[in-house]
Amino acid sequence: MNDYDTLAAQLTALLDTRDWLTNSAQTSAFIMQQVPDLNWVGFYLQREPETLILGPFQGQPACNPIPFTRGVCGAAARTRQTQRVDDVHAVPDHIACDAASRAELVVPLLVDDKVWGVLDIDSPRPSRFSAEDQAGIEQLCRVFLAASDIVDEHSH
Ligand code: SME
Repeated sequence: MNDYDTLAAQLTALLDTRDWLTNSAQTSAFIMQQVPDLNWVGFYLQREPETLILGPFQGQPACNPIPFTRGVCGAAARTRQTQRVDDVHAVPDHIACDAASRAELVVPLLVDDKVWGVLDIDSPRPSRFSAEDQAGIEQLCRVFLAASDIVDEHSH
């Protein structure tokens, strides 16, 4: 089991720029390396209204774009609640990018009360993510957001 306090400290040290693009790439690579049994880690960003656009990630090429109305990622963006799915095969709305994926954790990333994007994590192992993993990954998302200057692409 991961010690997420240690991972949060390591990620804080790794993110030594304010650039959100660099930091999102580093964060996805860091989680992929440090958290066992994952097959995909990455960011989807709301760069068009109500639509998630694929950002930096680790793993197989993935689905793009994803509207807020669809899939586990869309549900996280729409409800602004973390989605923790034990078995994506039981979710009719799930968008299958990689047939190997079984468990999924999607954390909404809110900036100034707007959905900036989501962090999506997939595992080939059913029930991979516990409540502790959810809290730990949410902690890593807070590290990423605190370390990064997020520009609102729609405000100018
Ligand atoms: N399974 C996700 C789509 C993204 S991929 O897993 C990378 C979903 O249902 O939203």
